[in-house]
Amino acid sequence: MNKELRNIEEENYKEFLEIAPESVKCNKAFISFLKEHGFFRAPASTCHHGATEGALYQHSKGVYEALVRFTDADFITWEKPDSPFIVGMFHDLCKIDTYHFDLESESWVWDDSDCIIPGHAEKSLIYLMPWIQLTGQEIACIRWHMGAFERDTKLWNYYGRACEHDSAVLYTHTADMYASRVEGV
Ligand SMILES: [Fe+2]
Ligand SMILES: [Fe+2]
Repeated sequence: MNKELRNIEEENYKEFLEIAPESVKCNKAFISFLKEHGFFRAPASTCHHGATEGALYQHSKGVYEALVRFTDADFITWEKPDSPFIVGMFHDLCKIDTYHFDLESESWVWDDSDCIIPGHAEKSLIYLMPWIQLTGQEIACIRWHMGAFERDTKLWNYYGRACEHDSAVLYTHTADMYASRVEGV
């Protein structure tokens, strides 16, 4: 890892500790897990704006901040105050082990050959649940954060029902889109 990569990771880590709620900050084992697995270093994709070091953290923070704005505007009522942070910051936790920096091409490449859990949103929940006791609302928001981008069209009924049950699900998908497509993080 070169100096520049290490700095970005360190900056993200420091900022995370500044903005994280106490319930997350005091979970030292979880924070070690995040650090060890490259949460503060990983990109968010292999193309477009998210293909840079630390972009997964920056995107996750962007979703968290969008959720805070929607909450302040009274679009979402959460079951617990830390939920915007937990949902926003960890909705894409599944990505921590799917990218590797290729020294030859000097770019991030997608490689899940070491992964034992497939998938996206459900994988984020699997990675998160040993560390944080999630509310049903947080589970629904993370599970359906991809909205109708969910590839299996047979699942759209479940997404529709989740939105009907709690509009926080719809706003989480909107926050994901807002951060990535409008703000470009
Ligand atoms: Fe995602
Ligand atoms: Fe996302």
